[in-house]
Amino acid sequence: MSIGKKDLIFIAIIVVVFGIFWGISGEEKTKKVPYDDKHRSFYEIVKKSGSKMDADKGCPACHNEQGGIPFPDKHPIKPKDGPMRCLFCHKLIDKYK
Ligand code: HEC
Ligand code: HEC
Repeated sequence: MSIGKKDLIFIAIIVVVFGIFWGISGEEKTKKVPYDDKHRSFYEIVKKSGSKMDADKGCPACHNEQGGIPFPDKHPIKPKDGPMRCLFCHKLIDKYK
């Protein structure tokens, strides 16, 4: 039995589908906002105002490049790139929302 053109197309579709799943799961690996003393207040802000952008404003107070907790070198964006939407990538932990 030889592999025909239709088989190759079928295999290609499977590869693409797995690629999409892999891409989605990769995104979910971004560290979540810890539920600890330093971050609990942000869970409260989001709960009360429903606005993640309100919560974002408080992050640079500690997470900054001027003596705060530095971002890893591979961090996709830096504060100088403009306003940071931290919670767009770093999700809150579901069970504490
Ligand atoms: C009061 C200071 C403070 C504020 C404000 C703060 N953080 Fe943090 N954050 C820390 C410290 C300290 C650590 C490292 C130790 C730890 O996990 O508590 C940290 C760690 C993290 C981590 C890495 C967690 C891990 O699993 O390694 C993420 C993600 C994070 N913060 C996101 C945020 C976001 C998003 C905000 C704004 C909503 C925020 N932080 C606001 C102090 C702060
Ligand atoms: C475009 C998506 C994106 C945005 C926006 C973003 N981050 Fe990140 N962040 C990442 C990725 C990806 C990593 C590296 C993978 C990881 O460790 O989660 C990371 C890593 C981190 C880490 C180190 C985690 C560790 O201990 O390894 C901290 C702390 C952090 N981000 C805080 C923030 C804060 C605070 C903001 C907002 C000022 C922010 N991030 C905005 C995607 C983002």
